Amino acid sequence: MSSDKSPQSDLHGLDPAKLPAHVAVIMDGNGRWAQKRLLSRIKGHEKGSEAVRTVVRTCREIGIPHLTLYAFSTENWQRPRAEVEALMVLLKKFLVKERQDMMEKNIRLGTIGQTDRLPEDVREALLQTIDVTRGNTALQLTLALSYGSRNEICQAMRAIAADIDAGRLQAADIDEKLISGYLFTRHIPDPDLLIRTSGEMRISNFLLWQIAYSEIFITPTLWPDFGADEFVRILKDFQSRQRRFGQVA
Ligand code: IPE
Ligand code: IPE
Ligand code: MG
Repeated sequence: MSSDKSPQSDLHGLDPAKLPAHVAVIMDGNGRWAQKRLLSRIKGHEKGSEAVRTVVRTCREIGIPHLTLYAFSTENWQRPRAEVEALMVLLKKFLVKERQDMMEKNIRLGTIGQTDRLPEDVREALLQTIDVTRGNTALQLTLALSYGSRNEICQAMRAIAADIDAGRLQAADIDEKLISGYLFTRHIPDPDLLIRTSGEMRISNFLLWQIAYSEIFITPTLWPDFGADEFVRILKDFQSRQRRFGQVA
């Protein structure tokens, strides 16, 4: 029996009955982490990609089935060219380097966003990793790449309008479920928990539709310093919350 496909889950004292099915993370603060150490912002991004590994590993250990990471926004294209290029190099490295580990840990990779805007070589690495991990089932890791929620909503509206024009759909068919089905996230449940690092109290164009009832946790920790212990503390906080969805307790 191969045990590598389903390692014993380590719950870190969490209640298995109250785990979030989907955790989404706005990984922010790489630049400030580097600045504090008089390093280039790019060093911060390098260190940040190590934190990605830790969070992915922890989700897998605990048995959280969906993790979505905001890695690059549509607005991030407007950063200095050297920084954008460095981020693309890092992304490609990550995609190639983690492929084997994703196979061993039964992790499936997916993306949301305008991935056609990514450089050719990054897109190739991305497609390859998505392809080889396609059959994996323990954790769906989704990278938001060139992602913007308003852009996602625009493309959904255009697709709905096209289907109406073509007679495949009627205006009266439009409901919440239908709209969700036209978003990049159509195969992923809405996040139960949204975490943002670096203390900024904003959403920055991430999953605007999908986080309607997500629990939000903002930590001042800069992303490269974010580790398993803090992640578990946040999950414990999540388990202590009462989700009411607008109803009475
Ligand atoms: C997050 O860190 C990584 C990306 C947005 C790509 P930042 O680069 O935004 O770091 P700060 O916010 O400037 O510290
Ligand atoms: C949000 O961080 C985007 C990602 C984490 C990829 P930003 O640093 O780009 O967002 P703002 O500028 O603080 O809103
Ligand atoms: Mg930032």
